[in-house]
Amino acid sequence: MNADPRVMEFFANPLGRPQSDAMVDRIEANFDKRGFSLWAIEVPGVASFIGFAGLAVPDFTAPFTPCVEIGWRLAAEHWGRGYATEAAGLALDHGFRKLGFREIVAFTTVANQRSRAVMKRLGMRYDPVDDFDMPTLPENHTLRQHVLYRLSSESRA
Ligand SMILES: CC(C)(COP(=O)(O)OP(=O)(O)OC[C@H]1O[C@@H](n2cnc3c(N)ncnc32)[C@H](O)[C@@H]1OP(=O)(O)O)[C@@H](O)C(=O)NCCC(=O)NCCS
Repeated sequence: MNADPRVMEFFANPLGRPQSDAMVDRIEANFDKRGFSLWAIEVPGVASFIGFAGLAVPDFTAPFTPCVEIGWRLAAEHWGRGYATEAAGLALDHGFRKLGFREIVAFTTVANQRSRAVMKRLGMRYDPVDDFDMPTLPENHTLRQHVLYRLSSESRA
């Protein structure tokens, strides 16, 4: 999944095996550190792993940080079935009801319409005033301009 150029179209680079394994190590370390992270998604009877969705704390500084973000990534053959929205909805409920967060955000590069559609389906709100440049990407990088979507615990209830 992390090596597939379709999946990684809106990221700086597809990941090789060592980078992908290091990402999994960071995901698991965050479960130990914070008690939440990105969950692997299984679709019983279909596939034991189709991707991930879950909660994270961004490690860059922006006007909206510190914050809790929700994210998702599916292997391309599992797009178009509603799996990302279903899994993300469960992650939001866990974040609001079990972990007590007041707000959860999501962000992506402007052109990532598939991901923005998930944010909309989840009821997250976009305000252009929150647009920001991703500080981890170089100046003039085509993916640098990002949009932010927000959801409060009250509006999810
Ligand atoms: C972003 C991403 C997770 C979205 O996946 P997705 O499958 O399009 O999103 P959903 O799970 O919400 O599925 C919605 C689609 O499933 C369809 N669908 C089919 N059956 C469905 C069902 N039973 N219930 C709900 N939706 C269903 C919907 O109509 C919709 O189709 P459409 O895209 O043609 O409108 C996926 O494109 C991806 O992994 N991209 C690469 C990684 C990435 O960019 N991650 C985000 C970084 S911020």
